[in-house]
Amino acid sequence: MFEKSILKCVGVALALSSITVIQARPSDAEIERSIKNLLGKMTLEEKVGHLQQPYLSPELCDSVIGNVALGRVGSVLLTKNHRISPEERNEIQRKAVEESRLGIPVFFGYDVIHGFKTLFPTPLALSSSWDDELMEECAAIAADESSHWGIDMAFSPMLDVCRDPRWGRISECSGEDVLINSRMGVAAVKGYQGDDYSADDKVAACLKHFVGYGVSVGGRDKSFSEISERTLHDTYLPPFKACVEAGAPSVMVAFNDLAGVPMSANHHALSEILKDDWGFDGIALSDWDAILELSVHGVTADEKESAMRALNAGMDVEMKSYCFDNLGDLVKEKKVSMKRLDDAVARVLRLKYRMGLFDNPYIDASIAESKQLTAESRAYARKAAAESMILLKNNGILPIDASKVTSGQISIVGQMAHNHDLMGGWIGMGEESDVIPLFDGITAGAPDGVRVIDGSERMMQNPVTIVCVGERSREFGESHDLHDIELSPSQVALVKEAKSYSAKVVVVVCSGRPLVLTPIMPYADAIVQAWHLGTEAGNAVADVIFGRVNPSGKTTCSMLKATGQVPVFYCDRLSGRPRVNRYVTIDAKPLFPFGYGLSYTTFEYSNFRLSKSEISKDGELEATVTITNTGDVTGKEIAQLYMHDRVATYSVPKKLLIDYKKVEIKPNESIEVTFEIKAEQLSLLDQNYKPIVEPGEFDIWVGGDSESLLGELLTVK
Ligand code: GLC
Repeated sequence: MFEKSILKCVGVALALSSITVIQARPSDAEIERSIKNLLGKMTLEEKVGHLQQPYLSPELCDSVIGNVALGRVGSVLLTKNHRISPEERNEIQRKAVEESRLGIPVFFGYDVIHGFKTLFPTPLALSSSWDDELMEECAAIAADESSHWGIDMAFSPMLDVCRDPRWGRISECSGEDVLINSRMGVAAVKGYQGDDYSADDKVAACLKHFVGYGVSVGGRDKSFSEISERTLHDTYLPPFKACVEAGAPSVMVAFNDLAGVPMSANHHALSEILKDDWGFDGIALSDWDAILELSVHGVTADEKESAMRALNAGMDVEMKSYCFDNLGDLVKEKKVSMKRLDDAVARVLRLKYRMGLFDNPYIDASIAESKQLTAESRAYARKAAAESMILLKNNGILPIDASKVTSGQISIVGQMAHNHDLMGGWIGMGEESDVIPLFDGITAGAPDGVRVIDGSERMMQNPVTIVCVGERSREFGESHDLHDIELSPSQVALVKEAKSYSAKVVVVVCSGRPLVLTPIMPYADAIVQAWHLGTEAGNAVADVIFGRVNPSGKTTCSMLKATGQVPVFYCDRLSGRPRVNRYVTIDAKPLFPFGYGLSYTTFEYSNFRLSKSEISKDGELEATVTITNTGDVTGKEIAQLYMHDRVATYSVPKKLLIDYKKVEIKPNESIEVTFEIKAEQLSLLDQNYKPIVEPGEFDIWVGGDSESLLGELLTVK
């Protein structure tokens, strides 16, 4: 077993029960002085080692830990397949701090994507809540659990705007819109880092994958990306910029190329944009083997050239592969400057000082377990899961109560009914045994007078059948792309069969991506998009279908009528003949538009008005709308504000989300929702890709989804 081999490797040693001395975080000036001092002492070999993040696997543990003790490792990559205990993590750190020549601590990086031991909904699901605070709190809990286990860096948030649901990794981002990916990313960074990520319940964020990975051609993972420079700047870079400004200290570099230059060797993106333009002083970390793969891209001949191209482009740390072993020779051959090498080492040292590792290199292993999967974190996971669900269709069968179940029992069928595999592809340290399956949650959560039976053996005449369909985690995620995203024929057949036995059919879709649900529309009386909701999935689904929680989620990606429509997204450009923007037998409209989601109540928008009909190029105004809850239960509504620049120097999106607010409204209550609009939110990019506000007429719209809108005209002088 891996644990035994670690102990063998590092010798049986009692984990250090660290005495955490709360140190005041050193000032930036003190950190820079310390960096300069350390750089002056480090040998070339130690500097090169500092830029390497080897994978701590059973096969390599001896050599990795041997190199840690020699001060030739900067950080360590952990994965879910090779979990180490807090004690083992401290023991590896002890090798660095107490055995290496300069005692520089290492940091530990791990895929904490949507939870650590407590798993929250997958990021695309969480984004459907449109609740920044919810995202922030989920990240804060994940930081608390992982940091106390010994993780220093979470490889998250993933900020890859994506408009191609064939791509399995759409499940890891926040959908098709720039603003939502930006705001959800910033919320995650705040949750992970707080005000000071050296705190023992915080971790450093790592923004990924920089940049343009979500445009992998054909929705095929790690294929190339074709993005114009303008679209790069107005769509794919902004979420990263927002999160760099929010203080994220690391960026993971994407696998794809941009205009033929692989990101791992892309000086324009890594140095000119990220470091020079944005002033980023953190680290650019490669993705797994991505530097080694530069020769597969065909832009280098061997590992040595790959190391040279990557470091000179602005890459700082190599994950997993060992091309950077060549950096010493490259410096001696003057193919890489010592200045660039020192800059990269300085960035790693700066990050470690800000992580607090020089003052507190060890964790208190004795409390690690007590921080995991607490009742509070489970409760929050249940809340987050309920908020992430989207009610796509409901003819009144939901919420289910005894009055709607004449026979007193409901039947549950479908491949996802008993499935514990609801944590998505990145499960942190989560265990399937901790997950509440749908059948268990619905059974436990059913109201009095409603019995729940398993109909999987044979369909039974039942007034209500719940059909649990979707994707298993191995059908989406990294390198799991689909050429056909329609719900599988066998599952469609199950829904049809259920309808032949039951008066009412409720379909619960547990998928990582937005699947094409067109075939089940005629048979489903209600459809709930339930994603992969994490540890509390079953309980959260029960809360929603039985009405304890009124669903409020809205889709952050267009849900298509057919796979062949890809790509369809709400903010595309008009072109010269928008009416012909369609296919012979099908149009280019989604089945469910961006921003769509139903509630158990209804909301009416009225009296939309602007505080001014005209503003200057640096002016601002207010947009106010009245929203009335016209139903009989309290509900949360996500009001969305869009704009369109009618005439601009460049063709711009036909509409663009510029703000959103989630409000709770009681039955028959009306509230006023006011948005502050600054002229800069109406900007587009000039020929140098810098934001400018052009005079002219702008449509300002508000509504409950990207299609149902009230509009007013605004003039910018
Ligand atoms: C993977 C993924 C990246 C992940 C890294 C470390 O290939 O692209 O998202 O963080 O390797 O596991």
